[in-house]
Amino acid sequence: MTVLVAGGGLIGLAIAWRAARRGLAVTVVDEAPGSGASRAAAGMLAPLTEAAYGEEALRALSRESLARYPAFLAELGGGVELRTEGTLEVGFDADDMAALDRLHAYYVESDLPVTRLTGSAARRREPALSPRVRGALHAPSDHSIEPRGLHAALLAAAADAGVHIVRSRIGSLVVEDGRAVGLRLADGAVLTGDTVVLALGAWSGSLPGAPPLPVRPVKGQILRLRGGAEGLLTGTVRALVRGESVYLVPFGADGLVVGATVEERGFDGTVTAGAVHDLLRDAIEVVPEVAELELVETLARWRPGTPDNAPLLGPSPLPGLVLATGHHRNGVLLTPATADAIADLLTDGTLPPYAAPFTVDGRMP
Ligand code: GLY
Repeated sequence: MTVLVAGGGLIGLAIAWRAARRGLAVTVVDEAPGSGASRAAAGMLAPLTEAAYGEEALRALSRESLARYPAFLAELGGGVELRTEGTLEVGFDADDMAALDRLHAYYVESDLPVTRLTGSAARRREPALSPRVRGALHAPSDHSIEPRGLHAALLAAAADAGVHIVRSRIGSLVVEDGRAVGLRLADGAVLTGDTVVLALGAWSGSLPGAPPLPVRPVKGQILRLRGGAEGLLTGTVRALVRGESVYLVPFGADGLVVGATVEERGFDGTVTAGAVHDLLRDAIEVVPEVAELELVETLARWRPGTPDNAPLLGPSPLPGLVLATGHHRNGVLLTPATADAIADLLTDGTLPPYAAPFTVDGRMP
């Protein structure tokens, strides 16, 4: 069986790697693999603190995927570090404390592991936190990973497994007799395959020839900073500052991602002065020493949003076309579960039970 994967971000590459390891002939097509959402992602693996109230199905999928991470990374060769210090969700004023109390009660009712901390207990965990932090939740099972390192490891592993990478722009899906049979490249060349996997992230809803899908770009601007002798934080810190969410995710020896805006602006890729200002102001409020770090990168990319914030996995309305998209805020987290589920579908013809609730059935526009 031959498989064409449209999209060489984390999701597309992981599917390609897993499918090739199962003996399928796989080609990934992407003009610049890893230059989309994978490049901007902070790498939070956070089934608790990323899912909103009521997103229980998404949380279950997220926990399934997080549980797969250690083995997934071991199979990749162990070169990508999983940061397991957990996540702190911090607050500053009485309203924030009330919000943390509600969240705490909800997690406890849902039997999810979380601890309520005083401000000083939070600072014992993360001494760089502002003395103004009044309280926190500690979610010990919400981890993180550096997405660019993960992407590089997947690219190498996919190549080792025999995946062919075609670095060309995709023009359209080729459909013959009501079936997806290939991809037409922007230069007119056509690649054919028994199955086409659509893993184009935010562009999944606009591939000419593909059925209309409920996937839209949700812009996020992020910052990358460096400095502080051994890094300012050990784990992820999230906060609500004057009603605005901000997160700080450490990576490597002294790196820090600060994110992120959430903007409905289509494919606008502008990094705005206002967003950089607000993210830095809020991050400095949470961790004052952020002001001393070097701002090394600002960028904007697009999350593949769906109406219910959950991914679209598995068969599409068009025979021959398989969906692996719509991962919205959780692409990095959902990479292992998505890759395994789509590899199962490609080899056995069925999705595993954990992925079955995420088919497109009933969710078309
Ligand atoms: N997962 C974080 C974000 O999408 O901003």
